[in-house]
Amino acid sequence: MGHVPPIGFRLLALASALSAWALVAVGDVVRVTESGLGCPDWPLCEGGVVPGERRAPVIEYSHRATAAVVAILVVATALRALRRRGPLLAGVLPAAAAAAQVPIGIALVLTSDRSDAHSALEMLHVAGAGAVWASLVGLATAVGRAPLRGARAGSQARPAPAALS
Ligand code: HEM
Repeated sequence: MGHVPPIGFRLLALASALSAWALVAVGDVVRVTESGLGCPDWPLCEGGVVPGERRAPVIEYSHRATAAVVAILVVATALRALRRRGPLLAGVLPAAAAAAQVPIGIALVLTSDRSDAHSALEMLHVAGAGAVWASLVGLATAVGRAPLRGARAGSQARPAPAALS
């Protein structure tokens, strides 16, 4: 990385990583509660903009809504990285992974859960979730470890206690 990323970029990277963590957790809830086909259509849910009161559609819809939040955050991160506010490759990678992951999720909804295609998509979706999460942890770690702006390399904020006496 050629320069120190500003605090705004660091916070965006952190928010993206935290939201992706929540998304993976909600995705796992979708899986274990077998709510994957809670909304059998896309982009609507049972023909409506918001789900009804049944549990499965609400759970599946929560996953879509969280995915939308993650998508907005990773696109914002990528745009800032393209404007050289952060590392270019690491900044764009999460958006690329999410761009591949979202259509897989949509295809999961639109294929029959008894088809071979659905089983293959399930595996791809888990792998895609790993790629989104790993790329965001990598980015957040890289920019989080960079020195703060204005701090000189090797300088200490405070002298060690022994040096005071
Ligand atoms: C960055 C975006 C996304 C991530 C990281 C993500 C992540 C996950 C994860 C971790 C699971 C649990 C998988 C398992 O344990 O087998 C899951 C399940 C699921 N996701 Fe996503 N997801 C994303 C976007 C979407 C979108 C946009 C949709 C639909 C419009 C969707 C639909 C589903 C469905 C239907 C399941 C249940 C699959 C099953 O029952 O095996 N996902 N997702």
